[in-house]
Amino acid sequence: MFKTKHYLNFLMFTSLIGILASCSYDYIEYPVVAPPDPNDTVYFAQKIAPIFTTGDKCTSCHKAGGTASPDLSAGVSYGSIVPALINTSEPETSRIYWFPNPASSDHVWKKLSQNEADLILLWIQQGALNN
Ligand code: HEC
Repeated sequence: MFKTKHYLNFLMFTSLIGILASCSYDYIEYPVVAPPDPNDTVYFAQKIAPIFTTGDKCTSCHKAGGTASPDLSAGVSYGSIVPALINTSEPETSRIYWFPNPASSDHVWKKLSQNEADLILLWIQQGALNN
């Protein structure tokens, strides 16, 4: 009896290991994107606004009547961000930059990618223009 129980435990254990080992992981290879060139003008309409709307990344929540403010929908995102979430004298402290930053633990929702955060910072350093 005692031995049978051990044998069953052993069977359960080995099949569990087998099940766990059979799981396959798909590693998503993110391309390493070079930091933006500080000499390039970052245009809001072309580079920043699409960050929020592409694939509904931010606008799934941040939209008119959505679950969170600011409204980051196309056409209105600039007015929602500037000046409220921008500090041009200390760009790194701008809320639109650090709150959803990949290095921040504040925004538990979706985060910016490093490249998106870099672009936003550079755009703020260039004056957070509606360009
Ligand atoms: C799943 C829903 C959801 C998604 C997706 C989301 N957010 Fe948020 N966000 C929130 C909520 C809820 C808050 C309110 C503060 C909190 O609880 O973190 C918030 C707060 C913020 C704030 C602070 C606003 C303020 O006035 O202080 C910023 C900035 C922000 N989000 C940016 C973004 C960006 C940029 C993205 C896309 C990368 C994004 N969020 C995606 C839910 C979301």
